[in-house]
Order: sequence, then C-alpha cells, then structure tokens
Amino acid sequence: MRLVVTSDIHIDKNGSDVCQLIAARAQELGADVLLLAGDVATSPTVLLQTFLTLRAAVPHLLYVAGNHDVWSHPEMQAKGQHAWWRLDTLLPALCAEAGVHNLDVAPIELGGVGFAGTLGWWDLSTRDASLDAPPEAYRTGQFAGLRWMDHTYAHFPDADGRAQAPETVAAILRGRLAAQLQRCTAERIVAVTHMVAFAEQLHHKSHPGWRFAQAFIGHLALGEVIAADPRVRLAVAGHTHIGSDFSRGGLRALCTPLGYQREWQGRSTAEAVNRAVVLVEL
Ligand SMILES: [Fe+2]
Ligand SMILES: [Fe+2]
Repeated sequence: MRLVVTSDIHIDKNGSDVCQLIAARAQELGADVLLLAGDVATSPTVLLQTFLTLRAAVPHLLYVAGNHDVWSHPEMQAKGQHAWWRLDTLLPALCAEAGVHNLDVAPIELGGVGFAGTLGWWDLSTRDASLDAPPEAYRTGQFAGLRWMDHTYAHFPDADGRAQAPETVAAILRGRLAAQLQRCTAERIVAVTHMVAFAEQLHHKSHPGWRFAQAFIGHLALGEVIAADPRVRLAVAGHTHIGSDFSRGGLRALCTPLGYQREWQGRSTAEAVNRAVVLVEL
C-alpha cells in the first residue's frame, strides 16, 4: 500500500491553491490512501471543499480532526455548536458528504492494514516542568505574552453544559482510541492522532511563551496506548508544526506537518507541500 501522510494543512490560512498542490502531489506519489492528521480548517465550507478536492485525487481519504477543526466562536458554542458537536456531528457529516473516512468515528481496514485514530487532546503531560508558570496560567492558557487559543475556541461541555477539564477530554478520546484498537482485527495497524503522543516528538524552545505552549501539544498516555499494541507499526501525529520521524522498536512515529506559510523558512509553496506530503510504503 502506498500511504501518503500529511497534517496541519490549515487551508483557511494557507489558501485553496495549497489544497490543489497537495492533491497533485498525492497523485504524483501514486497514493492509494491519503491520510490527513488534523488541522484542515475551522470554516465548515473550507473543510468540505478541501475534502472534496482531495477525495477526488485519491482512492481513499482518511482524516482525524485537529484542534482547529473543532474550534468555534463562543457565540456558536452557546448555541450548542461546541467542540463535541463539531467532532461528533459536524465533521462526520462533512466527511460523509465528501466520501472521506473519519477515523474519529470508526477504524477502517484497507489492503490488510487497519487504521485507528482520534483527535486526542492535551492534558499538560507534555509541559516544560522547568518553567516557572503558575497553575492559573495553565488554566487560562496565558503566560509570558502567549495566549493559547484552545482555551477560548475549543469548548467541551459535559451533559450539564459545564466545561470539561482538558484532562477529562484527553482521557475520553484516549479511551476511544483504545476501543478502536480493540475493534481492529488487522495484523498491522496505523494509529493516527492529531495530538502528539510521544515525548520524542516535542521540540524544546527557549522563548518562555513557547516553552509554556508545550503544555498544550500532547498527551503522553496516548502514546502508551499506541505502544501497548504491538500491531501498531506506524503512529502518525500532527499539531506541532515541526516534523519528526523516529522509531522505537518496531514502531515508527511520524509527524509531517505543513504548518503556516510564515513557518516555511523561505521555501516556496510547492517546496513546502512536497516536504510535508510524505509517502510511506506499507
Ligand atoms: Fe496545526
Ligand atoms: Fe493543532
């Protein structure tokens, strides 16, 4: 199987030309399956158009949501269009309309390979413990001039409408991934998360704001669930806009994000896309 992987394509920031380039690159690589590991767009219109364009280019398009994909304005949250609604109702409907397989909903087996996935959520397990930030900063998402926007735009309410703690959201989504892995009958599995699942995928920076932001990048217990299943040969993540590729035993962990144009270090759009859209032969 020729699996083509990318994440963090942020089409509502990067523009639909980028979507066309990703489609062309996936075709050039002969993709049987194109896998998007989250952060496609916040706008439902852009999400749908992106899904339709990419789906037309490849035989199978698989997707997990990113945090930007479940964001909504607080006014919309108050009307019930919160992160759980986006994850469990809106995104599955858009995927169904475009013929995309939404891994947040169910695993799938293609060519003898199982795919299981979840958005996942951050739980502060990846925070920089050497940073002197108070608990209040983590609760509000603000420290050293940095404001983490999930605290405003990603609202996960409980049945009574009260905001759930990020640790609770992370545990729920980790449980969904574990259940999917149990359901998979394939001998080889690809596990897909938007959130970073392994400490090796973190990139330590010097600026206090970015050291603080590391708290909102991943959930290390997700990695424990993935690593506990020896059938998982490949773990794909997104969210951090700095790529990584490492192996631990028989497990390869790959993060190959496109990110924002300002992060492309002078590369042209085509160069950035070709670097971020990666072929894995399974
Ligand atoms: Fe992103
Ligand atoms: Fe993200």
